[in-house]
Amino acid sequence: MDNVNQAEFWQQRYETGSIQWDMGQVSPPLKAYIDQLPASAKDQAILVPGAGNAYEVGYLHEQGFTNVTLVDFAPAPIDAFAERYPDFPAAHLICADFFNLSPEQHQFDWVLEQTFFCAINPSRRDEYVEQMAALLKPQGKLVGLLFNVDFGRDEPPFGGTKDEYQQRFEQCFDIEMMEASYNSHPARQGSELFIKLQAK
Ligand SMILES: C[S@@+](CC[C@H](N)C(=O)[O-])C[C@H]1O[C@@H](n2cnc3c(N)ncnc32)[C@H](O)[C@@H]1O
Repeated sequence: MDNVNQAEFWQQRYETGSIQWDMGQVSPPLKAYIDQLPASAKDQAILVPGAGNAYEVGYLHEQGFTNVTLVDFAPAPIDAFAERYPDFPAAHLICADFFNLSPEQHQFDWVLEQTFFCAINPSRRDEYVEQMAALLKPQGKLVGLLFNVDFGRDEPPFGGTKDEYQQRFEQCFDIEMMEASYNSHPARQGSELFIKLQAK
């Protein structure tokens, strides 16, 4: 299970096309969330970690969000994204380990979570919560989707329960919303929680 901590594991999945998680489109609940944001949000600093093929980053860019940062430690999807969006600022395409991002250098208004939490080794979940809170500005938000399913496997996606997530995130976040998602992609209907958490 430790191999999921390594960029090589994920890079190989992209190279062999073994990317079953990839929906090939913006996740519908996240599209709906983005679509209801006011025009004043367009210059907010947004992070999409473990973004993979990054349909949400592309959509934000197309909608005129000007300060979006993509982080992934596998180079393949970043290279593919840069080809699809040659006008996307290169400095905002970061090939690095999320856990090594420096909060002194990077601060965000909000972070978009989309099948990144479920990709990391479950033993690192508290580390994820702490690093996420550190990368957010005061009162910054973590918005996105978490699986509320126990997949019962020793490989990603690693699922979980609402109870577990509440306990973990409450350490560093106020939970504004953690509810069953009503507008998930058909393949994920009934298996996702929509979360909106505010850094304490
Ligand atoms: C399951 S995929 C999801 C990709 C994308 N969010 C999506 O929904 O299509 C997980 C992604 O997280 C990246 N990843 C995993 N651990 C990472 C880490 N510690 N730092 C940066 N990226 C990481 C992988 O390279 C992979 O692209």
